[in-house]
Amino acid sequence: IESCIKGSFGRIVDFHESIDSTNLRARRLAEEGAGSETLVAADAQEAGRGRRGRSWVSPPGKNIFMSLILRPDILPAKASMLTLVAALAVRDGIGTITGLDPVIKWPNDIVSSGKKLCGILTEMSAELEGIHYVVVGIGINANMEEFPSEVSDTATSLLLETGKKVARSQLIAAVLEAFEHYYEEFISQGDLSGLISVYNKYMVNAGKEVRILDPSGEYRGRALGINKTGELLVEMPDGEVRHVISGEVSVRGI
Ligand code: BTN
Repeated sequence: IESCIKGSFGRIVDFHESIDSTNLRARRLAEEGAGSETLVAADAQEAGRGRRGRSWVSPPGKNIFMSLILRPDILPAKASMLTLVAALAVRDGIGTITGLDPVIKWPNDIVSSGKKLCGILTEMSAELEGIHYVVVGIGINANMEEFPSEVSDTATSLLLETGKKVARSQLIAAVLEAFEHYYEEFISQGDLSGLISVYNKYMVNAGKEVRILDPSGEYRGRALGINKTGELLVEMPDGEVRHVISGEVSVRGI
């Protein structure tokens, strides 16, 4: 991996044939003082973790499992925006290496033919005054030929989408290069304001009807795009615009 890396994201790589979870390993390293921009990567995970306590399919020899340690000087409330920054970077990296043009499903899934190619899990250690570290975990379904039946309706891989095997180290390097570029823009602005238009351009939900499930219940509206904090703006039938912070968004028609 190191030989493909051009910038400073991933200049230090902690690689494992197999590890419990690259996010857990990155958190342990960060607790021990590992520097910002250190990358943990693995060929396989024994306990790959998804969002909402789900597991993440992580067999050897096929996919990308990586976690980047960052120590941004921003308020803890802004850390979740990094997930959207990472989504942009993964989308770009996939485009550069495979020629595919995947879309982003807000907030952070990368989707092709309506199925998920990549998941991102951001975790942080912080106190009121600031962030100790953030770990951005990225799982890309690269060379997987088939998925377990529980996820085969919702998951796809670069191999299944393009018919070609992808060189994983090159893809990792391309994602990290794009990540560094978008991250600098994010840090210099202090929010996503410089990335709204590029994000909305690739967001599959834009202009479409969405169903939002959140603790207050379920409602439908038309997704307009994100704002500078990464909230999804949803126009209700009566014209009211709601700001969706978190929750499960399901998009009809994809
Ligand atoms: C999701 O549920 O969509 C997020 C999945 C995140 C998976 C990646 S794989 C690398 C890193 N290590 C983990 O245990 N999870 C993330």
